[in-house]
Amino acid sequence: MPVITNIDDLKRLHKKRTPKMFYDYCESGAWTEQTFRENVTDFDKIRLRQRIAVDMEGRSTATQMIGQDVSMPVALAPVGLTGMQRADGEIKAAKAAEKFGVPFTLSTMSICSIEEVDKHTTKPFWFQLYVMRDQDFLEGIIQRAKDAKVSALVLTLDLQILGQRHKDLKNGLSVPLRPTLPNIANLATKWQWGLEMLATKNKSFGNIVGHAKGVSNMGSLFTWTAEQFDPRLDWDKIKKIKEMWGGPLILKGILDEEDARRAVDVGADAIIVSNHGGRQLDGALSSIRRLEPIIAAVGDQVEVHIDSGIRSGQDVLKATAMGATGTYIGRAYIYGLGAMGEAGVTKALEVIHKELDMSMALCGRRNINDVDRDILLVPEDFAGRWA
Ligand code: GLV
Repeated sequence: MPVITNIDDLKRLHKKRTPKMFYDYCESGAWTEQTFRENVTDFDKIRLRQRIAVDMEGRSTATQMIGQDVSMPVALAPVGLTGMQRADGEIKAAKAAEKFGVPFTLSTMSICSIEEVDKHTTKPFWFQLYVMRDQDFLEGIIQRAKDAKVSALVLTLDLQILGQRHKDLKNGLSVPLRPTLPNIANLATKWQWGLEMLATKNKSFGNIVGHAKGVSNMGSLFTWTAEQFDPRLDWDKIKKIKEMWGGPLILKGILDEEDARRAVDVGADAIIVSNHGGRQLDGALSSIRRLEPIIAAVGDQVEVHIDSGIRSGQDVLKATAMGATGTYIGRAYIYGLGAMGEAGVTKALEVIHKELDMSMALCGRRNINDVDRDILLVPEDFAGRWA
């Protein structure tokens, strides 16, 4: 059993144990992948201020996100195709999150359905919604989320069209995996993945199949999103969805102050500063660079969360110190899932928690709620002067 000490260890195992096309799907950004890379490297530019001789006993990372208790300010982000990284991946990740005391967000494009995840968990989870053209489907899925007692709806606003990730096209990404020669050759070294996948009934898009009308080519994510996602999504429609849902609403994909203000106007409970992990608009600024300007614009009116680029507990600490009330990990937990299933997701959460807790202590703070900008050393032009 390898000794896992950091998220990169899990990433290496994920790559080894998961079919190439699904690992690549996780580890891709759009086009040149500039934004995908800078999401991570911009976190590295922020440094921490070491403090000494401060009592470190009785530390706590517990806080709240949208009024819900969390053991640390980290939620599992919605990730499409999670159940292809490992059989029943969404159920495994949801169980790990539940035991750890952090929110799990189920993607519309998950393999296990809302009902399946509900059946295998005991606490409410969050559900991420993509808005489809089909109004019946939209109303139906919101009702299904209510029936499953979902405790927050996360509405993604930066993917009416799917960004181009070269590797997915080259690999012929499909769900389920097609039995082509390269795929079979690749599977020969991933026997555990294959055996677990053979044993589950969750092999396609569980929220969609059997629920959406006129689904012609579900196997191709590109074709399918182009046919089904609603390109006319606008702020009026967001307002209507808020009314239909009636519960806590988190708007995801905000990178601009003006959009953040619109999100406040429609009554969001939280916004997520996000560029979709660099998977949509390549060339957009990293989320961490956009965090402070957006907090300055709306942070007194709405909770500001962040995703994209978080790979360590130190990243969580930096975002929290800048004023984010919550962070999301996507790839960091998918590496764990692909590496070791539920135990791997737990390991990813443990790694991040330990890094967060120790770094907070070494910065002289005992409670995550007392962490502020004072613990950071940020380059003067970090947000950048862009004209
Ligand atoms: C879907 O959310 C994707 O980024 O592929």
